[in-house]
Amino acid sequence: MALIIENPARIVTPRPGDQRGAGLGGLDVFTGMSVLCRDGLIERIGALDELLAEASGAKRYDASGQTLIPGLVDSHSHPVFAGDRADEFAMRTAGAGYEEIAASGGGIARTVAATQQASKDKLKELARKRLDRAMAHGVTTLEAKTGYGLTPESELKMLEVIRELDAEHPIDLVPTFLGAHAVPKGVAKNDYLAAMRELLPEAARTARFCDVFCEQGYFTPVESVSLLEAARDCGMLPKMHADQFHSIGCIEAAVELGAVSVDHLEAMRPEDAVKLAGTDVVGLALPGVSLFLDIPYAPVRQLIDAGCAVAVATDFNPGSNMTMNLPLMMSLLCMKTGVSTDEALIMATRGGAHALRMSDRGRIAEGLRADMAVLDADKYEELVYFYGERHVSAVIKGGTVHELR
Ligand code: NIG
Ligand code: FE
Repeated sequence: MALIIENPARIVTPRPGDQRGAGLGGLDVFTGMSVLCRDGLIERIGALDELLAEASGAKRYDASGQTLIPGLVDSHSHPVFAGDRADEFAMRTAGAGYEEIAASGGGIARTVAATQQASKDKLKELARKRLDRAMAHGVTTLEAKTGYGLTPESELKMLEVIRELDAEHPIDLVPTFLGAHAVPKGVAKNDYLAAMRELLPEAARTARFCDVFCEQGYFTPVESVSLLEAARDCGMLPKMHADQFHSIGCIEAAVELGAVSVDHLEAMRPEDAVKLAGTDVVGLALPGVSLFLDIPYAPVRQLIDAGCAVAVATDFNPGSNMTMNLPLMMSLLCMKTGVSTDEALIMATRGGAHALRMSDRGRIAEGLRADMAVLDADKYEELVYFYGERHVSAVIKGGTVHELR
């Protein structure tokens, strides 16, 4: 089935080629062009009369006055969980810290208890609504982590939820196995790591990536690398939660391992940016966590200027960032880390796709997936500048239009 997206005011897309250094390769802006999609892909970008001649029976979508950008890629999120931690939010606004709350029995452990008790159907119902919210902000691909199961049975339940929702929801879900998110209460760490290691072959049947929370009080760089190497032997690519609260050597470990990305980096020393430059490890910024937990922002400007590959994501989760609003994360990058609006858009599209090693998306270009967001604005900057609002009037996913209002 063919679709023509007609007469958008502008088509804005990251350029092909190198995407490192100041400007991250830059954006292309096309005016007077329409887009022909066929069989889930972008077939041609060109003048409307030429596209109509090429596909006379195509469905037509009028995008006049609107701006077309690539579908956003949220490359780090935890959308499957039960329960909430609104009371911890209240404790934090009264002055308690995230690590303090976790040490006194709150934090990840509470979400684990609720998630273990929830049925698969309940988890699906909860996560589906969150995916709808993500799509309403222009997200068409979303990485989804396990890590609130923490038993073989519950971790596999989470993977099943992710796999089934991927098939049922327009958003593409990219499953990541995060068995090493925390050590469950009453279990010795070594025993837990052994159990997770045993689960890797089965997890790898669904998950593309394996992630570890490499942090003081959770998993050391040595423990993380050991599990991630075993995960790679099973076919999963390694990712790391790194330098969120303390800088304990995760960056060096990730570089040595050849991880796909190091995510968080709020406690990263700016001078460590050079360690990522010249590697293919993506520095993945999660600025909503800094806002939500009132902790420092990752040194994103230094990462870009050092020539690192970078991306931005939500890290949606009940404890450290309860929002599915990826454009708001782009605004935070600009307001708090000295990133330009062009760079923020590149980081949320092409950067996110690279952090998921998906070269078939993240730009509007012939031959790529027909995944786009239609903004109710005649220039894309509105998405970042008019912040915290919804600007997406429709999402095109695999060449199908999903109108949002
Ligand atoms: O990415 N840092 C570890 N995991 C999550 C928080 C999980 C939670 O608090 O439930 C994060 O910030
Ligand atoms: Fe996370």
